[in-house]
Amino acid sequence: MSPLAATVPSTRRSATPPPRRFQPVAMPSLDWTPEVEAATAHLYERVKTVIPPVEWPFFAPYVKAINELKVVRNAVILAHNYQTPEIYNCVADVVGDSFALARQATRTDAEVIVQCGVHFMAETSKILNPDKTVLIPDSRAGCSLATSITAEDVRALRRRHPGVPVAVYVNTTAEVKAEADICLTSGNAVAVVESLGSPEVMVLPDQYLAAWIATQTKVRIISWHGACEVHERFTAEELRAYRAADPDVTILAHPECPPDVIAEADFTGSTAKILDYVKLRKPRKVVMVTECSMADNVMAEAPDTEFVKPCNLCPHMKRITLPKILESLVHMREEVVVDPAVAEGARRSVEAMVHLKI
Ligand code: 13P
Ligand code: SF4
Repeated sequence: MSPLAATVPSTRRSATPPPRRFQPVAMPSLDWTPEVEAATAHLYERVKTVIPPVEWPFFAPYVKAINELKVVRNAVILAHNYQTPEIYNCVADVVGDSFALARQATRTDAEVIVQCGVHFMAETSKILNPDKTVLIPDSRAGCSLATSITAEDVRALRRRHPGVPVAVYVNTTAEVKAEADICLTSGNAVAVVESLGSPEVMVLPDQYLAAWIATQTKVRIISWHGACEVHERFTAEELRAYRAADPDVTILAHPECPPDVIAEADFTGSTAKILDYVKLRKPRKVVMVTECSMADNVMAEAPDTEFVKPCNLCPHMKRITLPKILESLVHMREEVVVDPAVAEGARRSVEAMVHLKI
């Protein structure tokens, strides 16, 4: 699927006027000055292995301005593991995989949530925080999985498989979540499926995540034909070439990869589980079979591991940049709006997952 085909439907984009209760603020100065250098030096320490010194004077004024404006706006920044290192390390308050971000969205006291990730993640934060203002710096940040299935598709599947529970990946729209019994993420998928106590479960819409779950459980999995446009591009052949070049290399894959790719991996897990694997086991050299920025972010936390990065970028995650985050806080846009009736159904599915004791 082309990146453009995966942008969110226009009906789900917010109108641009800022919420009325927020006063406009002036755009801060973005000059590189000794004051900016001093105020951001401790943050540059975190990213110096992945951002060359010559690039820091471009990022640092944004980093300082965003961190100051967060206080003015009483805002928290939630950033997914695929965000670029300057976002992940220098302006985010909470980082993590989809599940961690969904859980943290229920725990924040901030009045404003700025979601640095893709649209379904911001929508999930809004569903869990109907009274807060949720902003996404670029509402065109979609996801090929979220656009692969509609609420009507789920209703048709229920008619075809009566009585079979439906678990949908968080990478779906609010309308699709509202049709489900529960949500799941790559970090909790097997536990969620088994918690339903059914011999059969529909796992929608990622065919590859569903196939991987089926290898981890006795529950019969009924799936859909969705795929992540980033992870489906990896091939088993390229992983065999990495292994042939260095037989001791450790290959870590995300479960959105096709089964023949996963078969070549030493470990398969969510972005958070991949991060934990590297931090705890300290492998000498790893191949990260997931989105590019993930390796940059793990590298900063695992200086003793050598990283091989077969680089597949998520074009939607990369729509989020420091200039757009700053614009977002200055103008309080783009606000994420979910129809209250849809949000109520979707909240039931997301909360069923968040509150599961697993
Ligand atoms: P995680 O839940 O592992 O963070 O994955 C989300 C995602 O979009 C992966 O492509
Ligand atoms: Fe969606 Fe794939 Fe991008 Fe994750 S990496 S947001 S699943 S398109």
